[in-house]
Amino acid sequence: MNGRPLLVTCGLPYTNGRCHLGHLRTYVPADFYVRYLRRAGEDVVFICGSDNHGTPIVVSAEDEKIHPRELSLRYHRHFEDTFRRLNIIFDHFGMTDGETNHRRTRSIVQTLIERGYVYRKTVQQSYCLKCRRFLPDRYVEGICPYCGTGARGDECDQGCGRHLEPGEIRAPRCSVCGEPAELREQEHFFFRLSNFRDFLLEYLEDLKGTVIARNYAIGWVKEGLRDWCITRTLDWGVKFPEHEDLVVYVWVDAPVGYISFTEEWAEAHGKDWRSYWCGEIVPVTHFIGSDIIYHHTIFWPAMLKGAGYGLPEAIVASGMLKVNDQKFSKSRGYVVWTNEDYLDLGLPPDYLRYYLLSYTSHTRELNFSWKMFQERVNNEIVGTLGNFIYRSLYFTSKFFGAIPAVAPEQEIMDQISRCMDEVDGKVREFEFKGAVDAMMALAAFGNTYIQGNAPWKLVKEDRATSERVVVNCLQIVKALALMMEPVMPDSAQKIWYMLGESGYVGDHPLSEALVPPAPRALDTPSPPFVKLDDDRVKELESTLERRIGEARRKEQGKQVVSPEEFRRLDIRTGRIVAVDAIKGSKKLLRLSVDIGGEMRTVVAGIAEFYPPEELRGRDVAIIVNLKPVKLFGVESQGMILAAGDQASLLVPLRKVEPGTKIR
Ligand code: MF3
Ligand code: ZN
Repeated sequence: MNGRPLLVTCGLPYTNGRCHLGHLRTYVPADFYVRYLRRAGEDVVFICGSDNHGTPIVVSAEDEKIHPRELSLRYHRHFEDTFRRLNIIFDHFGMTDGETNHRRTRSIVQTLIERGYVYRKTVQQSYCLKCRRFLPDRYVEGICPYCGTGARGDECDQGCGRHLEPGEIRAPRCSVCGEPAELREQEHFFFRLSNFRDFLLEYLEDLKGTVIARNYAIGWVKEGLRDWCITRTLDWGVKFPEHEDLVVYVWVDAPVGYISFTEEWAEAHGKDWRSYWCGEIVPVTHFIGSDIIYHHTIFWPAMLKGAGYGLPEAIVASGMLKVNDQKFSKSRGYVVWTNEDYLDLGLPPDYLRYYLLSYTSHTRELNFSWKMFQERVNNEIVGTLGNFIYRSLYFTSKFFGAIPAVAPEQEIMDQISRCMDEVDGKVREFEFKGAVDAMMALAAFGNTYIQGNAPWKLVKEDRATSERVVVNCLQIVKALALMMEPVMPDSAQKIWYMLGESGYVGDHPLSEALVPPAPRALDTPSPPFVKLDDDRVKELESTLERRIGEARRKEQGKQVVSPEEFRRLDIRTGRIVAVDAIKGSKKLLRLSVDIGGEMRTVVAGIAEFYPPEELRGRDVAIIVNLKPVKLFGVESQGMILAAGDQASLLVPLRKVEPGTKIR
């Protein structure tokens, strides 16, 4: 093996829901990367596990009236099993609730305390009077103080993506009972993240992986870092040292899982985990979704640095998944479940792996639709790759019964060798699509070559040349089987056997792509891939459409409003009399609205769509009895009604006095 041992990890899935394509968008490329590096001769260990703590799991366990541990175990097994079915093969798949992780987390936190990086502070925390408890993280919903979008307690997941500290969210409501929350004082422990500014800027400068991870992170550090609250009042989690009533925030013990799982694996294999985690910059590459860049580029390195561990060399962030061109959403039905919608129906893991790897650049948004999936499978996998491989094997077996004992031409070897270089370069830039495209270009070259040289005609006139042509083709087939293994392991193996080779194709180094196939007898081949027919795709599409429709009806059902309820809303026409900018916000405007003898201040997110002069003097529709909220230090005392992404304002068709009731 060349060089130093490497560690590759994937973000740890929460154990509160099933595996879907959103997960796979990160895991499949990581598995591809690991397989490829190994085939290129590198010593790689591939580590993952499940993320068992935090409020998402507690909330789901409460819903099901079971203990979070039971829920975690169930989903832990589910992920382990699903990954295996997709040929995503980790060397170890641990649990953050495991003993090793409890121990390692407490030891790291203890070190941070001893080194003076942790202090105690009283904070304002959301509290629900009705449920009679504090509302950490996902127990509270409200409005993001940075961008004004609806957000969860610790994360603006629909808007700007920022991490939110306890007490920061505006207009907090209890997510269990829906009641407005009040703020109460509570004592918590904070990590001195702000001390790490200079360190982080220096570290991030040289961070490898995808540039988007690094650039986002540098931007956040420059905006300013606030100290980080690292404790929560929950039972479920890793206890904070000497405080039985507190656990550490899930984003403390989850990434520590990367270390603990390495320890567990090393222990079982007679290795030393320290060679992966001790030093300055350590040979660790984290594959993550782009929604958790902040946690991996800010919190995690600061913690590691503070506690004296080595720092990951690379962070590779994948773009998010869309389904039918819509933002992925379980509640809106835009979701494809890995087992129910795919594997359980007998669809080949390889097709999905291929689609996820080759759809687009790793950092871009990836859209999944069954129609597009069918096109890629039928045109590329079956039409280009399968067709070439099958024809090559078929003609050889039919006319010669064996691989002819002649050497392939240098020109063909050069073509393969160029392809291998291209693939290698792309993989090392984390451009997985580029790598797969290069392999497919070799298959396309093969197709053109076999078509142009027509060995089935040649064989009648010039048997020797025909032999050379099929050997050239089979050399390319062999190269493709070897190179495609990280993309489509099952199919590569099938092709390998059809070439008369033995053993697991993945145990052979890539360099064998330039070794001529041994002249052995060939069986009649079978087509390595089959098309997805239209009826099948219609069925798959209709399952998804049904789900989206049901979600929509459910949402509408929930939202039926009685006439009495509607009358509780006081909606009136109002006249905009003044328009001012809001300091610190590009999106918000402060409007002064005359609602019939009374002036209201309204903060509206319409600055991007209207110049102030277009708004002044306008009559608009305004809800005047909403509970006021403070945004950017300005109290908003009403809400202007607008439609669509461009915030088209609703205006009365005929002239009415300001303050006219809308019924
Ligand atoms: N469970 C988290 C999520 O799904 C990811 C945790 S990754 C780790 O967003 F770094 F914390 F381990
Ligand atoms: Zn936000």
